[in-house]
Amino acid sequence: MRKDVMVGDLPADETSIAFVERYWTDKWKEMGGPTRATKSITRKNEYKVIAPYLSSVPAGGHILDGGCGMGDWPVELAKQGYKVTGLDLSRETVAKLNELFPDLEFVTGDIRGTGFADDTFDAYLSWGVFEHFEEGLQPCIREAWRILKPGGLLFISVPADNLRHALRGTFARLPRRHTTDVSQFYQWRLTRAELARELTFGGFDVETVKPIHKRQGVLRSLHHEFGLPYEWLVTKGLSVVLAPFVPGGLIAHMYLAVARKPASDT
Ligand SMILES: C[S@@+](CC[C@H](N)C(=O)[O-])C[C@H]1O[C@@H](n2cnc3c(N)ncnc32)[C@H](O)[C@@H]1O
Repeated sequence: MRKDVMVGDLPADETSIAFVERYWTDKWKEMGGPTRATKSITRKNEYKVIAPYLSSVPAGGHILDGGCGMGDWPVELAKQGYKVTGLDLSRETVAKLNELFPDLEFVTGDIRGTGFADDTFDAYLSWGVFEHFEEGLQPCIREAWRILKPGGLLFISVPADNLRHALRGTFARLPRRHTTDVSQFYQWRLTRAELARELTFGGFDVETVKPIHKRQGVLRSLHHEFGLPYEWLVTKGLSVVLAPFVPGGLIAHMYLAVARKPASDT
């Protein structure tokens, strides 16, 4: 697993979990905060990968979105007939979601210790959250295993440690000796095999691991390796044209894993 760090230091009186809550609350506010007009999920990369598995979840089946952000997935999945619970660390965002959608269930909490009973959910999805703990993914995976019903499905995405990152790591310049920058842990990047291994270690049967968000990966490469600004139309255009031709293992920004808690633990 490859560690990404952020340059900067936490305010002295702020824990890392308080920092994450503040970071996301501010980010969602910057984007206008939750509204009743949620974004459709059916054209998203994640939906295309999980749709065949999701169709095996019975109508009315209970689904958890761990780190639900502005609530797009819970609201849209509820429209498809599932019972959905959205969980997020950001108290302000969750309060707003409860105000907007009083018929749905949004709760504040930490995916490493949700407080739900054992064997509660038929499926659990979480996009870009399991990688954010320096102690690794196991606390999140253990909790997912506990709260899923036997046979329940887990869908997670994490940042890809793709070939581009491996090459950048290999040829990275060594840090200068006299730096005053303080770096703090930001996230883990995983290879496909590492993600499968983490899930297997946590007791899951891995159904598939797929590279997703190739265009985002190409965009980042054009920016970091070729110096093209993100906002230029030519950068965006090139990313659209190139993405279909570049192998996922080289460039995909994220990996999405589908795993199942065994139907019986005997
Ligand atoms: C990458 S965003 C994903 C948002 C949403 N699922 C989506 O796909 O648009 C991560 C979200 O996870 C939440 N989060 C981060 N750490 C968390 C934790 N330990 N427990 C619960 N939610 C967390 C953040 O507040 C943020 O809303």
